[in-house]
Order: sequence, then C-alpha cells, then structure tokens
Amino acid sequence: MDLNIFDELKKLQTIAGAYKEWSSYRHKVTEYIINNTTDFESIAIFGAGKCNDIDLNILESKFEKVILIDIDMSSMKEGINQYSLVDSNKIELIACDFLGIEDSEYRDYEYLVKKYFFTNTNNLSSRHKILSLLDDLTAKINKYPLAFGEDAYKNSILIGVHSQINVYLQRIWSICLQITGEGDNLAIEKIKKMNDIVAKKLNAAVIESTKDKLFFGYEMGMEGQYGRIEGAIQAEHDLELRLESGLINFSSEFKLLWPFKSDCKYVMRFICISKNKVLEDEEFPNVHFDAQ
Ligand SMILES: C[S@@+](CC[C@H](N)C(=O)[O-])C[C@H]1O[C@@H](n2cnc3c(N)ncnc32)[C@H](O)[C@@H]1O
Repeated sequence: MDLNIFDELKKLQTIAGAYKEWSSYRHKVTEYIINNTTDFESIAIFGAGKCNDIDLNILESKFEKVILIDIDMSSMKEGINQYSLVDSNKIELIACDFLGIEDSEYRDYEYLVKKYFFTNTNNLSSRHKILSLLDDLTAKINKYPLAFGEDAYKNSILIGVHSQINVYLQRIWSICLQITGEGDNLAIEKIKKMNDIVAKKLNAAVIESTKDKLFFGYEMGMEGQYGRIEGAIQAEHDLELRLESGLINFSSEFKLLWPFKSDCKYVMRFICISKNKVLEDEEFPNVHFDAQ
C-alpha cells in the first residue's frame, strides 16, 4: 500500500477557506470571550493555529498582551499575517507540543498497522508490536512535561483543541479499517486511555497557567449524527471531576454550531471557568490533578 497516511493527515490540519466560512462563528466566539473577561492584562490562546476561530484584531485591540501557543509555528505566523498584525508588539508566538509523540513514532505505528492489515504473514507478531508500541507511547505521554508556568497568563482560551491533539493514531487505524472493510478494535481501547491522560494533562497545565478566566470549547458531537467526539469526551469528563471537587468555578456556558467543513459541522459547548485557588490549596489537599 503506497499511501502515506500520516503525511496526508498532517496536511489536513489546515482547513482551506476556514477564515471566510467561520466568520459568523468567529464573531460569536470572540464576543463571548470579550463579554466575559474582567481583566484585560493578557490572554493566551492554546492551539491557536491560524486563529480562524477567534478574531485576533479584536483581542489585540482589547488586551495588553496576546500569546499564541501551538505546535505549528508556520500556521501562527500565517495567522498574524492574515490579521495584518505581524508588527504588533502586543503579540507573542510560542511553539509548543502538548503531546510529545514524534513524527517518526507515528510512521513506525503506521508501518506496523499496514503490515497487520495488508499482509498475510506475521499477524500475531504485528499485533503484539502494535500493542507494545501503544503502551510505550502511553508511558511517554504520561511522563511528558507539560507546564506553562503558574499564573503565567491572566486569561486563556482552549477551543477545539482536545479532539485534535491525539488524532493520528486513531485515524491511521480507521483508514485501514475502511480500506479493508474490517471491524477490528484492537488499538482503540488503548488510544482512548491515552486520550484520558492527554485531556487531564492539558486541562491541568492550562488551568494552572491561568490566573483569572478560562474559555474552554469542545465538541458535543457532529450535527445530525449520533455519538461523541474522542478527546472532547475525556476533556469534559476531566472538567466535571474538577467541578465536583471544587477545584474550579463555573461562570457560564453556551452552545454554538461550528461550520468546520461543508460536510461536517460540530455542536460546540463553550464554558467560562476559573480555578478555585483557596480550595485547590487548602480544602482538598488529597485531590491531585497535577500534570503527571
Ligand atoms: C482545530 S485547530 C483549533 C482551531 C484553531 N484555533 C484555528 O483557528 O484554526 C487545532 C489546533 O491544535 C493544534 N495542535 C494539534 N496538535 C497539537 C499538539 N500536539 N501540540 C500543540 N498544538 C497542537 C493544531 O496545530 C491546530 O492549530
């Protein structure tokens, strides 16, 4: 099989026409953030990409500092160019990987998965190697140091990102399933467990880094389809646990349709939260939601 799935999937991270198509959505999301912010000292955008979903011009005019954080530096540069903000001294770009899996590890995984699905020999060995590689990657992301500094930012945004961080392993698997027409879930349970770790670590690091308001947005599901979205499920579950434990305060929420692509729209839930410093430090000394 000649198709290089991982490299093709990477190219799909950039959505052509998103700036234009998401205009109304971007306007409502930005309005929600501005209306719910009380201190405009700084705002960090985690998974900023090209900022097609948040109006950078509005943020730049309201906040003293706007920090874009993403694995993809070239997208962020295109983003500030798109808003004619290249020369703004209020904007900072930070390249950061929230996960810690190398491209070479995705390629190793793809090689094994293709061998498992498309050759008739050594299936038992490929199966064992896939599971063992997934175990190694799980241990690796568990140990990956993810921290942005305590109270480094006054406000932060984390929208549409949880579902995108650990997508490649599952997509490579699903594409091979589609091609073969098989229904094999060998890797899926392990990938779901990885998503638990990823969501918990990312939430912990972003919450720790933010002094005042946090604006989270994640997919409730695809419009017109049954079922939840991987990554978003785990993000919500983690936030619920933090709310139940009193580690975060909840201020408001709203739902909005994200016109992601012409054939795929997501129902998004947006929430505004803040960390409960007193309870975090004193009343729940035994509840640990740290990044490890
Ligand atoms: C769907 S986009 C979010 C929308 C984005 N703000 C926009 O307007 O296009 C998800 C973002 O997460 C980033 N991302 C994916 N995996 C990441 C990782 N491991 N570390 C940091 N950022 C990552 C992508 O580069 C992308 O910009």
